[in-house]
Amino acid sequence: MDLMQAIKSRRAIRKFKTDAVPQDALDQIIEAARLAPSGVNSQPWKFKVVTDPAVKEQVFLATRNQNHVRQAPAVIIICADTMSYHKGLRERFKELLDNGIITQDDLNGMGLGDLITSEEAADLEKFAPSAIFNTAIATEHMALMAAALGLGTCWVHLFDKAAISKLFNLPPWLIPVTLLPVGYADEDPEPRPRKPVGEIMF
Ligand SMILES: Cc1cc2nc3c(=O)[nH]c(=O)nc-3n(C[C@H](O)[C@H](O)[C@H](O)COP(=O)(O)O)c2cc1C
Repeated sequence: MDLMQAIKSRRAIRKFKTDAVPQDALDQIIEAARLAPSGVNSQPWKFKVVTDPAVKEQVFLATRNQNHVRQAPAVIIICADTMSYHKGLRERFKELLDNGIITQDDLNGMGLGDLITSEEAADLEKFAPSAIFNTAIATEHMALMAAALGLGTCWVHLFDKAAISKLFNLPPWLIPVTLLPVGYADEDPEPRPRKPVGEIMF
């Protein structure tokens, strides 16, 4: 399947068959996320694939009764990881500092001074918007990969983030952003309407 076919065939799927998703397909979906681009290659994301029905039920309970989350044989928990900025960028910026490409003043001016000095992940909260933005790219990579493999997904963003954090005992720097139920579609929805090109160009 070429890319445009995958883009066109992907739908938000809210009815799934019970058939398990082959491990190889899950691996390819995660690989598609791993290869996604991110600002300064920060890769600020972490994923967990949930297939255990008891755990999946707990995830479902955090989703305002979104039954597709309960029904899907696998649900990928997608988190933004602000700690990536701490670990990754710290080293990257150090290289730039050491080579005289930027100065500490430049970093301070960019609001990144703390990144070089702070050991506290909690101080990195200001990077959550960037981490979430980048994580969305990885999420759509997964949705498109799944579509290319003949699997259905649905972005699920309406859920109780605190409940998911508690369920998986997440540290504060891992922010649950999206749940992605994955499975074989048990429905074939029509394409949902999109604005015409003339309306989205300026
Ligand atoms: C950021 C985002 C959040 C979404 N949250 C939910 C959600 O919580 N539950 C749900 O059933 N669908 C959710 N959706 C699916 C959208 O409703 C769906 O993508 C949109 O109606 C377009 O339909 P299509 O995906 O079939 O093209 C979400 C989609 C995106 C991109």
